[in-house]
Amino acid sequence: MELHLKGKVAVVTGASKGIGLSVVEGLAREGAKVVAGSRGSTPELDALAASHDITVVSVDLSSPEGPETLIRRAVERHGRIDVLVNNVGAAEPRSSFLEVSEADWQQVFGLTFFSAVRASRAALPHLLEAEGASIVNISSINAQLPFPMVVDYSAAKAALTNLNKSLSEEFAPKGVRVNAIAPGPVRTPFWTAPGAFADATAAAAGTTAQEALDVVVPQSMGISSGRITEPHEVADLALFLASPVAGNITGAEIVIDGGQVKTL
Ligand SMILES: NC(=O)c1ccc[n+]([C@@H]2O[C@H](COP(=O)([O-])OP(=O)(O)OC[C@H]3O[C@@H](n4cnc5c(N)ncnc54)[C@H](OP(=O)(O)O)[C@@H]3O)[C@@H](O)[C@H]2O)c1
Repeated sequence: MELHLKGKVAVVTGASKGIGLSVVEGLAREGAKVVAGSRGSTPELDALAASHDITVVSVDLSSPEGPETLIRRAVERHGRIDVLVNNVGAAEPRSSFLEVSEADWQQVFGLTFFSAVRASRAALPHLLEAEGASIVNISSINAQLPFPMVVDYSAAKAALTNLNKSLSEEFAPKGVRVNAIAPGPVRTPFWTAPGAFADATAAAAGTTAQEALDVVVPQSMGISSGRITEPHEVADLALFLASPVAGNITGAEIVIDGGQVKTL
């Protein structure tokens, strides 16, 4: 399918690893000009940037000024923005709501929710000037399916999904589509980094991190397909939603979870 993304200017937050990196890769493959924001880079992002029109911006997106800085860099470089992918977000495994401090709540909401508020606020004046612009918000099934183990993150994703709808209502009549993706578990450093969720699950189940991801998580979470999602599968969905091919899809939240969420 031709996605008609060639020459579009796309900003991706949380772009150096995981889903963000896959989105950058997919957009670059389609011929888009990508502005990729994260605190650091990775050999994978650097390699992509060496052979495509990718501007890597080092920025802390949890700070109040970080998202605006990223958007400003994109406009300085390309003079416009067509696509914003609000991807950045993070969670820590919690043992109880009572363990989550005020600073933890501020940190999780700052990165997972307010980064999207701030990036959208800075980008929308430019998106409104572009032809067929769109925002894609990477939310989570935890927006609809809160887990105590990620109580703060679940609440931040619920806020993001809610924002997704408000923005789509206001800006669809003005030509900017706004959609969300709600993934279940995806094989990224979010799970696989040392001390992250694969290790926590493995420790609880008395197995390895690999076995936890391939067997324990799909079984214990009721993932009907029997496997977690790969980052490129989320990226492909993000590219589709960003593309003019999805020109009459707005305000949607598309779940990609192998059938984990059982409700309609
Ligand atoms: N993986 C899953 O199972 C899953 C499921 C549902 C939803 N999601 C959502 O999908 C999105 C991407 O998740 P992922 O799994 O790809 O995460 P990931 O593998 O942990 O990657 C996170 C990315 O965000 C960047 N980042 C983290 N903190 C940052 C900060 N303060 N400022 C700027 N960049 C920052 C990281 O780069 P630096 O460290 O260099 O900054 C990295 O590029 C998140 O919103 C997540 O909530 C993930």
